[in-house]
Amino acid sequence: MAGTGFGLIGTGFMGRAHAIALASVAAVFDDIEAPRAACIADADEESAARAARALRFERACGDWRALVADSAVDVVDVCTPNHLHYEMALAALEAGKHVFCEKPLALTVAEAERLARAAQSAGVVHGVGLNYTTNPMIRTAREIVTSGEIGEVLHFSGRYFEDYMASPEAPFTWRCERRLAGSGALADLGSHLINMMHYLVGRPRVLAADTSTAIRERRRPDGVMQVVENEDVARAFIELESGVPATLEISRIATGRKCGLAFDLFGTRGALRFDQERMNELELFTGGEAPGRAGYRTLLAGPAHGDYARFCPAPGHGLGINDLKVIEMHDFIRAVERGERFYPDFDEGLAVQRVMQAIEDAAAEHCRVTLDWTAETS
Ligand SMILES: NC(=O)c1ccc[n+]([C@@H]2O[C@H](COP(=O)([O-])OP(=O)(O)OC[C@H]3O[C@@H](n4cnc5c(N)ncnc54)[C@H](O)[C@@H]3O)[C@@H](O)[C@H]2O)c1
Repeated sequence: MAGTGFGLIGTGFMGRAHAIALASVAAVFDDIEAPRAACIADADEESAARAARALRFERACGDWRALVADSAVDVVDVCTPNHLHYEMALAALEAGKHVFCEKPLALTVAEAERLARAAQSAGVVHGVGLNYTTNPMIRTAREIVTSGEIGEVLHFSGRYFEDYMASPEAPFTWRCERRLAGSGALADLGSHLINMMHYLVGRPRVLAADTSTAIRERRRPDGVMQVVENEDVARAFIELESGVPATLEISRIATGRKCGLAFDLFGTRGALRFDQERMNELELFTGGEAPGRAGYRTLLAGPAHGDYARFCPAPGHGLGINDLKVIEMHDFIRAVERGERFYPDFDEGLAVQRVMQAIEDAAAEHCRVTLDWTAETS
């Protein structure tokens, strides 16, 4: 059987990460056919051709619509800036292709709803690049929560702190512009944190929030100062559907933090804490020790955790971010080969988009926003 043919659009940070995953996934996982790197597209012919040579794709094109139409392409993999996701993913679904799209799924709830509906009626496999929940230690955290090992969940506190915009000298990019990015820190970082919260403790029922922009103008590459159109910081105070209280705090100006996707999760009999900057460690508190000896212990990633053993037979040697992309790629290809559902899919992408919008609405109106999950697409 010929392996699944991939058409990759966008050859920047994420395009390269997806291409690396594509090249190595069948070496790591032996339960799928090796995928084919069928076609790669970028904004022009020259950069697409350069990327095809470097990343070993069979064909290059400067027009993404030609990639979507290519009969060798089974999966359209969208790795372009946020404003292009909707148009590209929709065209791919209409062409009957499976679609993997980087996060956030779209710019607005209306776009995300349309994509989720189109994906459902196309009957194809669909996925969103919310890759941090593929971490074997996060899958272990979920097992610990759902098995009741730390009792009933009492409280979730999540943060995602990065400092890529902390310097006032950091340039104006597409991530600062509403038309191209949608929201700011919320879409870029908050989308991952919201998915993490959904995965571990569930969805919000009601929330209050605020957002703020600390650095209001940034210099464009041509030297002209431009107004930043979206937020640097977002904070939300949440009551989950279960009634559990949760907080989310998201910042792209968190000086010194590089990939601080982190949480504390407190239960009646124990607690978990995690920080993506130490992604091979999950801290677990279960108590029960003698007075003066109780405390968190560190579970160090090893073959007993999720897909770790596929990469390495020895514990404590550690996985990295590109390995999470390999796991994500594997799960998606397996879903295509078996005709199964992939998680996180477009429905989860839509759910994340709805929470991001609720945070923006609550912040703009200074009010509490209630989320109604009864009208889901599935
Ligand atoms: N999952 C993650 O952890 C993660 C991390 C970073 C970025 N992302 C997401 O990935 C997406 C891309 O971000 P990035 O950091 O790779 O951006 P980037 O700017 O590094 O790359 C974007 C690429 O898209 C290409 N492109 C732009 N317009 C195009 C067009 N019309 N046709 C074809 N190609 C076009 C650009 O030439 C470039 O190669 C964003 O949606 C972002 O949110 C996800």
